[in-house]
Amino acid sequence: MRRVLMVMLMLLGLTLGWSLPVQAAVDPAALGKAVTAIERLDQLRTGLASGVENTTTEPTLTTFKEVCAPVGQQARAIAQTNGWQVRQVAARYRNPQHQPQNLTEEAALAELAEHPQVQAFWETDDQGIHYFRRIDVQASCLVCHGARDKVPAFVKNRYPQDLAYDFQVGDLRGMYHVLIPALQMATAPLP
Ligand code: HEC
Repeated sequence: MRRVLMVMLMLLGLTLGWSLPVQAAVDPAALGKAVTAIERLDQLRTGLASGVENTTTEPTLTTFKEVCAPVGQQARAIAQTNGWQVRQVAARYRNPQHQPQNLTEEAALAELAEHPQVQAFWETDDQGIHYFRRIDVQASCLVCHGARDKVPAFVKNRYPQDLAYDFQVGDLRGMYHVLIPALQMATAPLP
């Protein structure tokens, strides 16, 4: 609920044109679109995870695979459609592609780890505008990200460098990182 409220406030802020020092350079519609796309992406994950959690039969390899991998596919689709970069980033990653790639990502993760009340934030630099949105661990995630000895066999086989286990509910699992490149900012109409 708090999460939804924060996002709504952020969208309201974007609509009214306050609270963002960068507003003059950015099309607010692109920012709102990024927020919405990431919320949908996160809902995809939580929906799929609760499906696995509530399954009455023993989950098969296929059901196990169908939680976070589709999130990666959808992230790529969002990136392609909009001309953005969309990444999932985690200090304790399962897929090594998701480890922080630069100081910007490391600093953003540290910021979210230090301030659990911060749901998401924006940042600009010469690359463009970055949107960071936290991913917290929920009970439904523990089937695959909980105690190490309970991690499903397919994960152990497929992700030999896996670090994404032993999480507890409420831990910071990672973040989404959207980069709306500077070019789009420059061509966007001023509000
Ligand atoms: C059915 C098993 C399963 C469940 C349940 C699950 N995950 Fe994952 N998770 C995975 C796998 C497998 C990957 C690696 C996917 C890939 O290669 O992109 C992954 C990757 C991730 C990543 C990307 C970063 C990384 O470590 O590679 C995040 C973030 C993540 N999971 C968060 C969650 C959250 C939050 C939940 C609960 C809402 C959850 N997961 C539930 C299996 C699962």
